[in-house]
Amino acid sequence: MKKIFVCLGLIFIGLSVSAQSDIESRIDSVMARLSVKEKIGQLNQLDGRSKVPYLESLIANGQLGSIMNIVDYKEINRLQKMAMENHPHIPIVFSRDVVHGFRTMLPIPLGMAASFNPALVEEGSKVAAVEAGENGIRWGFGPMIDVSRDARWGRIAESFGEDILMNELFGVAVVRGYQWDDLSNPATMAACAKHFVGYSATEGGRDYNSTYLTERQLRDIYLPPFKAAVENGCASIMTSFNDNDGLPTSANPWLLKDVLRDEWGFDGVVVSDWGSVGELSNHGVAVDKADAARYGLNCGTDMEMSSKTYINHAEKLIEEGSVEMAVLDNAVRNVLRLKFRLGLFENPYVADPVEVKTGCQEHLDAAEKVVEESVVLLKNDGVLPLDKSVRTVLLTGPLADAPHDQLGTWTMDGDTTMTVTPADYFQKAFGRKVKVIYQPSLVYSRDKDTSSFAALREKATKADVIVACLGEEAILSGEAHCLSDIGLKGEQTALLEMLAATGKPVVSIFMAGRPMTIAHEVELSSAVLYAFHPGTMGGKALARIINGEVNPSGKLPVTFPLHVGQTPMYYSYKPLGRGHKAMTQIDDIPRNARQSVLGHSCSYLDTGNKPLFNFGFGLSYTRFELKDMTAAVEGDKVHVTATLSNVGERAGAEVVQLYICDVKASRTRPVKELKAFEKVYLEAGETRKVELEIPVSRMGFYVTPSQYVVEPGEFKLLLGTSSETTLGKTITL
Ligand code: GLC
Repeated sequence: MKKIFVCLGLIFIGLSVSAQSDIESRIDSVMARLSVKEKIGQLNQLDGRSKVPYLESLIANGQLGSIMNIVDYKEINRLQKMAMENHPHIPIVFSRDVVHGFRTMLPIPLGMAASFNPALVEEGSKVAAVEAGENGIRWGFGPMIDVSRDARWGRIAESFGEDILMNELFGVAVVRGYQWDDLSNPATMAACAKHFVGYSATEGGRDYNSTYLTERQLRDIYLPPFKAAVENGCASIMTSFNDNDGLPTSANPWLLKDVLRDEWGFDGVVVSDWGSVGELSNHGVAVDKADAARYGLNCGTDMEMSSKTYINHAEKLIEEGSVEMAVLDNAVRNVLRLKFRLGLFENPYVADPVEVKTGCQEHLDAAEKVVEESVVLLKNDGVLPLDKSVRTVLLTGPLADAPHDQLGTWTMDGDTTMTVTPADYFQKAFGRKVKVIYQPSLVYSRDKDTSSFAALREKATKADVIVACLGEEAILSGEAHCLSDIGLKGEQTALLEMLAATGKPVVSIFMAGRPMTIAHEVELSSAVLYAFHPGTMGGKALARIINGEVNPSGKLPVTFPLHVGQTPMYYSYKPLGRGHKAMTQIDDIPRNARQSVLGHSCSYLDTGNKPLFNFGFGLSYTRFELKDMTAAVEGDKVHVTATLSNVGERAGAEVVQLYICDVKASRTRPVKELKAFEKVYLEAGETRKVELEIPVSRMGFYVTPSQYVVEPGEFKLLLGTSSETTLGKTITL
């Protein structure tokens, strides 16, 4: 039997090698018939919402390699026919931002990360690929895998949070979900890992700002998710807007060539983020647009999104020798390779869908499952799940019936008519014995009109339980949408204060694109559910959680600061020379206090240095016990076991998280780093032995930008059901 598997394996390897070499020879034959102008045309990607005659003229002259943002497959076929019938008869690849769903919207990526279930997110991403493919999109600009640690940055919404491993695992899940195992299948689409790299460390949490990351930081923190995506076959990479250490990434040959190509062997396409090649002149690195094109090409940015410097200047740059023909050829080969891998030469047109899958029930169910596992229970005084004695539920708040905002940022093709809001579903979920009164109050998250409060208060006094849906409109997070204050907007806090003052238990549901500073609102609530922006099926999943059909199992993928002034804030901070011990807080400082009486640690006099909620935290309707931890080094792995018991009255899932701390190293190392986790589903009363493994090779760091080491010595292994770990062992490597 083993021999058979070995033979099959060799055959498979042989087939994939021959398929690759077949593609390379087919690229050779296409390249041979391209003029310089036509080669440059393959590197040009434009927005399909440009003037159609302009697009058609470029296609007729072989000047357009990719078009973004057309999602009418008949129009796509019409333009594709032009490309196939005109010299050089090269198919166009049609692309779109597919970040968390296409028509059926999944939770925003930050919400999906809260599921701590990459396999589930892979299934959800397949749904996105099928729907996008059905509409002609074969290149989706996702996953966004920027390790994000600043809640002021609007794009934290698009990431899988603050942790390196989480962005690695969820990024790979999306790549697999989009690309499956055969990119030539029209139900797949090329993934695009973005934004390469370090963009999320933007100074001040303000988008597009400079970053000042050392190569060591890039190696240790920001590059690993991209490396994992490339190792798992991600078809493309998108360069980021930021200038890091003085060099915009679209013009950084160390990143785009030395690391991406030479070290990682990436043979896909590097596409610039919107205009970021043209913007090299705004950065002041390029003297003009021609110089920007020279930089972009020579530094390894293959395809230029939207800024047209390549089609306007590259021919002259080649003529004058500022860009070698080999550089141009290499970029064009990368683009053609993508198109061959997508099967576009054999199959350039979008088939009329036999059975339309977009928005089908199967997809809605898949999306709902992701939401159910992505909602985080942050507080519960016992009001949830709703008791059978509850007869009247008052539902209110600006996010209770917000079909657009519930979908979150980057909802390019999300269909708001499909959105199931809490107002749509609560009554159905709670059944006839419960009367759900939906009483609108603030109409949107920034609403300052409190005129509805009096009537609402009247209704609230008659309810057994109040559910308040609060948070952010979709527009308040995402690209360029950064906030210096991440608290609730408008009069939402006043609304909650009024509701709490009725003495009725209030269940607060937050829908937002980021962690919000909600300590006061949590205090006012009997229970808190954080759903991020939960997407199309948010209302149904939340209703089923509140009525107890679903036991929430989400965990926070980001630290929630107590105050915005604490950001950036994350769990994997360094031990420091002066530590993090609490200092005298501002209200306790004696009058005329002498200089050195308050303590000396890394903290704030007014808010301390503790978060509101820790990374990895989330409650359940049942209770779990984690004990009997063991740890051992077994060859090239560290093996950890523990016993997890469900000691409550109902089934549930718990996320066992394993962190390491390199106690003594030649560079300062974080107090803890997540290295493995497992989501364990247990029936009431069930006990299971949980086993987690860490490859020793994953326990190191870059001691210099070119030297990765796993230093011998003592390591703490820290185990828990949040980053506030409860069990520990020490091992020595
Ligand atoms: C935007 C975003 C990027 C997106 C691209 C195309 O500016 O930064 O994430 O994929 O442009 O829309």
